[in-house]
Amino acid sequence: MRSNLTVFFIILLSVFSVLPQLACADEPTGKSFVLWAGSGSAETCLTAECHATLGRAKYVHAPVAEGDCLVCHGTTDQPHPGAGSIVLVEEEPGLCLQCHENPAAGMAYPHSAVVEGCTGCHNPHQGGLPKLVVQSGGQLCLVCHEDVDDGKYVHGPVRAINCKMCHGIHGGDNLAMLNQHGNGNCLGCHSGIQDIMDNAVSQHEPVVNGFCWDCHTPHASEYKPFLQEYYPEEFYTSYQKENFGLCFSCHDESAFTYELTSEATAFRNHNDNLHYLHVNRQSKGRVCKACHGVHGAPQDKLLLAKVKSFGRWAIPLTWVSDGGRATCYVGCHQPKTYSRNSSVPN
Ligand code: HEC
Ligand code: HEC
Ligand code: HEC
Ligand code: HEC
Ligand code: HEC
Ligand code: HEC
Ligand code: HEC
Ligand code: HEC
Ligand code: HEC
Repeated sequence: MRSNLTVFFIILLSVFSVLPQLACADEPTGKSFVLWAGSGSAETCLTAECHATLGRAKYVHAPVAEGDCLVCHGTTDQPHPGAGSIVLVEEEPGLCLQCHENPAAGMAYPHSAVVEGCTGCHNPHQGGLPKLVVQSGGQLCLVCHEDVDDGKYVHGPVRAINCKMCHGIHGGDNLAMLNQHGNGNCLGCHSGIQDIMDNAVSQHEPVVNGFCWDCHTPHASEYKPFLQEYYPEEFYTSYQKENFGLCFSCHDESAFTYELTSEATAFRNHNDNLHYLHVNRQSKGRVCKACHGVHGAPQDKLLLAKVKSFGRWAIPLTWVSDGGRATCYVGCHQPKTYSRNSSVPN
């Protein structure tokens, strides 16, 4: 008797649940839905009055297309529609991981956004963009990282909002979920710097063993060319500590502040500090790149062989060192020799 009734109701229910479909073949399907746990009555979620737009977007999530609302939603003892009547069956990301593999599984640097959930980036139901993303391309990233391009000067690929050029999406195996390890992320596009490094006789420690972004900002900066701290673009400048903020973030300023020294720098003629002489001036103080190549250089001590200063002419610079003595052959003055042991008259 009882089982006959059950069969009857099941038949009745399934007839009702397919009815909307029969009425209009284009109508998306909705599975039968218990209005609320105590009600005992069943409806579909996708009637003309209720949630009619679900299932009609360009891209519809498979379980929504199936009308399978209850894989993610559950009812409570509150009447529906009404506050608190519908809950999620599980919190994110568990909700989505019922059916999907964790897209950051096994990655050394999973994206925090993925650890926290999925709907910050994906619509759970449907949308106008492939993969159900809430925004396309790098615009998606700016939803949460809106300040990434803050700065007077914005780096080309960031201006193009092409975050994928350097970063993974769900995570990655390199620090900061970068596509490549370390400087490889930069040298692919900046092969000119790679050439300087390959042809260098002396190399700059942070360039070869550190990261380009020890000195450069990868996204945007107040200082050209995308530097972490100020560094003069011009050839001459007045001496102020702030003008060499970048170099002095690692190097001791004292090599430039003492007119006389027996230790602050090796660039001295006995006690006359030649760094001070060239750099520490109220006007027309030379900047570091008057002598040094920051990414690597063809002579020891990061010394350049050609110095670009005025127009197109590159001043030749030859530095010959012999223990405590060295001689500079340059285009700007007669050859000059210095010695750390005793003063050489020039
Ligand atoms: C893959 C899981 C999933 C499926 C399947 C799903 N939903 Fe949702 N739904 C969610 C999530 C996640 C939210 C957001 C809940 C929140 O913000 O607390 C949500 C929110 C909602 C909301 C309230 C906010 C809004 O977007 O309007 C409604 C209404 C809703 N779902 C209806 C449905 C209906 C009807 C179906 C079946 C056709 C369905 N959902 C299927 C996951 C799902
Ligand atoms: C009931 C199982 C189920 C649940 C739960 C589920 N999905 Fe899906 N999802 C699917 C299926 C099935 C597909 C289609 C797979 C395919 O086409 O390869 C899919 C596809 C997707 C796609 C790819 C869409 C595309 O166009 O290729 C994304 C993104 C996605 N789901 C995100 C989510 C998110 C976010 C959640 C949690 C809110 C979630 N899914 C929960 C079953 C599920
Ligand atoms: C930071 C944003 C973001 C978060 C958070 C995120 N995704 Fe994605 N997901 C994307 C983007 C963007 C794509 C499209 C990738 C592409 O087109 O190459 C995508 C693609 C997918 C795809 C389709 C993969 C394919 O190859 O077709 C699935 C499935 C997916 N995500 C599931 C998830 C799940 C599950 C979660 C949560 C555990 C999640 N995503 C969290 C941004 C995100
Ligand atoms: C829903 C919000 C959200 C979206 C969208 C989002 N992120 Fe994130 N992201 C976070 C959170 C939260 C963190 C961790 C805190 C932080 O570093 O700001 C994070 C961290 C990061 C980090 C630092 C990771 C590390 O290990 O230091 C990178 C890089 C990143 N996101 C890139 C992206 C990219 C690229 C996109 C677009 C594909 C994106 N994010 C979209 C929320 C988001
Ligand atoms: C996808 C290619 C690409 C990648 C990868 C890339 N850059 Fe760039 N970069 C450019 C382009 C294009 C410009 C020129 C437009 C501009 O000024 O932003 C540029 C300009 C620069 C400049 C200024 C050059 C000048 O002459 O003023 C610096 C410095 C720089 N990038 C550093 C880096 C660093 C550091 C990285 C790694 C974190 C990097 N770039 C990765 C494309 C790239
Ligand atoms: C040219 C390569 C490059 C591009 C393009 C790029 N990033 Fe980055 N990003 C990096 C590098 C390198 C780091 C690591 C910096 C560090 O560790 O100091 C980083 C770090 C981050 C971080 C974590 C630290 C921070 O600065 O907040 C976030 C978030 C981030 N990127 C988001 C983005 C977003 C969003 C985009 C696209 C608008 C983007 N990135 C484009 C190279 C890039
Ligand atoms: C020790 C700090 C420092 C490091 C590390 C560094 N740079 Fe630079 N970079 C500079 C300075 C300073 C300039 C300004 C021009 C100059 O003085 O040569 C510059 C200029 C540039 C330019 C503009 C073109 C040029 O030659 O003037 C590019 C491109 C560049 N750097 C890329 C890189 C890349 C790629 C890396 C990593 C392999 C890197 N930099 C590492 C300090 C650094
Ligand atoms: C991120 C830290 C860092 C920054 C910034 C930095 N340097 Fe260096 N530099 C080093 C380290 C480390 C060495 C190797 C140890 C030493 O000599 O102190 C070095 C060495 C040098 C040398 C000596 C090279 C040799 O072969 O003995 C010169 C010259 C030099 N740097 C110039 C500069 C100039 C010019 C700037 C500013 C544009 C600068 N550095 C910015 C870390 C840095
Ligand atoms: C007029 C050329 C010239 C200028 C300008 C110059 N240097 Fe030097 N620098 C040298 C020479 C030459 C040496 C090598 C001294 C030796 O070992 O005999 C040197 C050596 C160094 C060293 C190695 C340690 C030391 O002091 O002996 C560092 C670091 C350095 N310079 C940084 C800088 C920085 C930073 C600037 C800009 C603030 C700068 N230099 C400006 C010529 C110059």
